[in-house]
Amino acid sequence: MSSTIIVGLQWGDEGKGKIVDYLTERSDVVARAQGGSNAGHTVISGGVKYILHLIPSGVLWKDKKCVIGNGVVIDPPGLLAEMAKLRGQGVEISPENLIISENAHLTMPYHRALDVAREKQRGENKIGTTGRGIGPTYADKIERQGLRMTDLRDTSRLAHEVQWRAELHNLELQAAGQEKVNVAEVVEVITAAAEQLRPHIENTVVYLNQAIAAGKRVLFEGAQGSYLDIDHGTYPFVTSSNTTAGGACTGSGVSPRKIETVIGVAKAYTTRVGSGPFVTESEEMSSMLHGMGREFGSTTGRARRCGWLDGVLLRFSVMVNGADQIAITNLDGLDGLERIKICTHYTLDGKKIEYPPATVDEMKRCVPVYEEHEGWMQDLSGITSASQIPAKARAYLNRIAELAGARISLLGIGPSREQTLVLD
Ligand code: GDP
Ligand code: IMO
Ligand code: MG
Repeated sequence: MSSTIIVGLQWGDEGKGKIVDYLTERSDVVARAQGGSNAGHTVISGGVKYILHLIPSGVLWKDKKCVIGNGVVIDPPGLLAEMAKLRGQGVEISPENLIISENAHLTMPYHRALDVAREKQRGENKIGTTGRGIGPTYADKIERQGLRMTDLRDTSRLAHEVQWRAELHNLELQAAGQEKVNVAEVVEVITAAAEQLRPHIENTVVYLNQAIAAGKRVLFEGAQGSYLDIDHGTYPFVTSSNTTAGGACTGSGVSPRKIETVIGVAKAYTTRVGSGPFVTESEEMSSMLHGMGREFGSTTGRARRCGWLDGVLLRFSVMVNGADQIAITNLDGLDGLERIKICTHYTLDGKKIEYPPATVDEMKRCVPVYEEHEGWMQDLSGITSASQIPAKARAYLNRIAELAGARISLLGIGPSREQTLVLD
């Protein structure tokens, strides 16, 4: 049994794509189980930069099977555009190496329009979504009125199924004073996309379980991060899926009993895109990292908010995910700092807090308590083995492991596939 879940321990963009890509070499199958095209996973290999949104990062390796599971929400024209872009970069994609669950829900043009309209209506309270229609798609799924990949199979019914839903959602768009979607156009776009996607549709639950039974090694590629989880994140400033480890099981139809390892991915500092509380946010970190040309979103290009590593967040996300290993990425981002801060706990109304509080209001009132570490003041990007890690960087990593309660097994010291070190 060797299924591994890769999950983000912070607010997304931890470097999951790079870690999944690194681990794919030793895997047979890479599966996505939640999220949609809000995800942006960057992989740099052979000097070429690839950005994956819906397609598992494993697609960059030949002879690996990629699965888009039932828990993922799929924007059909968006998926086709992503396939076309990757093919243009020389990546082979066919029903042989990419299969899509028949139960995965569809993000439709009206979901995108509703996402944008609802954000507009929230005004100051906006979530800062990616505008990819994620919330409205999952809302329709839970409301039991969503369209699924399986609906793309029967074109005779497709127009009717799309029409009444589009008309229903147009009522809300109209009430909000927004432009309605053109129903005939939506039908046309989806019907055309259906033709191309149909060969990829499969019962991925059966596929994955049979693959595991046959001894194949499956990697579950998490999207977003633990604090964007609809249940465990900083609600309402979250995404609309379960981004924590349990989501990999419900979103794929693979039992928790078949999972061997959970690897949590965290940056050596913290970033967040969009609105919501961020206790260790720091102007100094934002301007340093943006000044280096780093921390701009892979999906929307927005500048990410940056801050110090938050031990409170890691302690809780390691627990909720059952992460037994951590991959720390972007350690090289701290190379130039003389002093590095880690938040060990918060205080709230004068009381010590070791886990994040439940409400955003409380979280906003938390004061970070830091300890300072000496920086290593050395370019780490060229080191090629764990033995070359400077003692001060080791000490910083050891402290992270201690605060988080899990060992660090992988370390990222640059964006390329090769800039990954195995620590034990
Ligand atoms: P994901 O959404 O978790 O896959 O992460 P993103 O790809 O959105 O963001 C991570 C960013 O950090 C990307 O630009 C990666 O190329 C980059 N990256 C990942 N690991 C490292 C690392 O160890 N060092 C550096 N310098 N960049 C890294
Ligand atoms: P990856 O997989 C970082 C954030 C958005 C917003 C909130 C809700 O690359 O780590 P949504 O569009 O999902 O309704 O937006 O969640 N968000 C992400 N932030 N990385 C992501 O994915 C994200 N996906 C969504 O910025 O704050
Ligand atoms: Mg990302």
